[in-house]
Amino acid sequence: MSLENTMSLKENLAKFARVDLLKTVTMMDKLENLSRYLGRDIYIKRDDLTPLAMGGNKLRKLEYLIADALQKKAKVIVTAGAIQSNHVRQTAAMAAKYGLKCVALLENPIQNQDNNFLNNGNKLLTELFNTQCVMCDELTDPNRQMQAWIDQHHLEAAYIVPVGGSNALGSLGYVRCALEIAEQRPQGIEFAAVVVASGSAGTHAGLAIGLQAALPQTPVIGVTVSRVTAEQAPKVNQLQQEISSLLGQTACPDIQLWDHYFAPRYGMPNKQGSDAITLLAQKEGILLDPVYTGKAMAGLIDHVLNKTIDGQKPLLFVHTGGAPALFSYSGIEAVTQ
Ligand SMILES: Cc1ncc(COP(=O)(O)O)c(C=O)c1O
Repeated sequence: MSLENTMSLKENLAKFARVDLLKTVTMMDKLENLSRYLGRDIYIKRDDLTPLAMGGNKLRKLEYLIADALQKKAKVIVTAGAIQSNHVRQTAAMAAKYGLKCVALLENPIQNQDNNFLNNGNKLLTELFNTQCVMCDELTDPNRQMQAWIDQHHLEAAYIVPVGGSNALGSLGYVRCALEIAEQRPQGIEFAAVVVASGSAGTHAGLAIGLQAALPQTPVIGVTVSRVTAEQAPKVNQLQQEISSLLGQTACPDIQLWDHYFAPRYGMPNKQGSDAITLLAQKEGILLDPVYTGKAMAGLIDHVLNKTIDGQKPLLFVHTGGAPALFSYSGIEAVTQ
């Protein structure tokens, strides 16, 4: 661990207000049965077990974003996402907890009209948290669409939480998570890589910036869930630069992506992802999801079995949550890629 860099990163992080929901760290565990099955040690960081609203990665980002909203005396949180967005569910819960109204602009990215898809899972929970859901044809430019909604409805003291909570401030949650990983890593273990789903990119970019300081030998590999590498890499890069400048850092790490696991498109389950969900459920009793973590785990499994990831050192999978979507996808068949 690079102590000097870690110390200065910690000091810089401490300058940002945070509502501190995660009084304790999330746990890290070895997946004994999966490791035996794959012939390589696999560890898991259980960010699916963050403490509110059935957990997930957005709560770490929202610790910073909601603190900022409260400092700015906001009364209404406005956010956006897919109809089965985990991000929207967690934002809705945080708004409820901190006494804020919440409005969510939602789109149906796969145009599916299955009743469970439209009403169950994350959508059901979002409404339970009393968030006002507004359906849109398509979120082509979400920040502009959210601002237009605020203007049209003369909302006062509104605070926009971007899609996925992925601006530089929200991503600080995953810079912190990287420091947590470095501290709780079992003695003597050096991970070959940290593998995580890469969507709106804040989780990926935050982890990469944090690990660069705390565990510089350990790269982050993002498994894309919505875009090919040529489109995702600039997104991660842009966010890494914004996080670096917010924290007064200089260099940004190289970006590594695997993009063969999200077809046919964002939000549509595929066979490899479904197989990964079944494997983790039946070998470890752990629930992945059809949109993010199933596909990310499919990438990890594929690369380990085909020996296309270097060496024999263990891998760390960051489980970013999403299991509530299992209930809404029960009637949607996974496609074969
Ligand atoms: C379960 C889950 N995993 C991963 C991601 C991707 O994280 P990010 O948007 O920070 O790339 C999301 C985003 O919504 C998610 O809900």
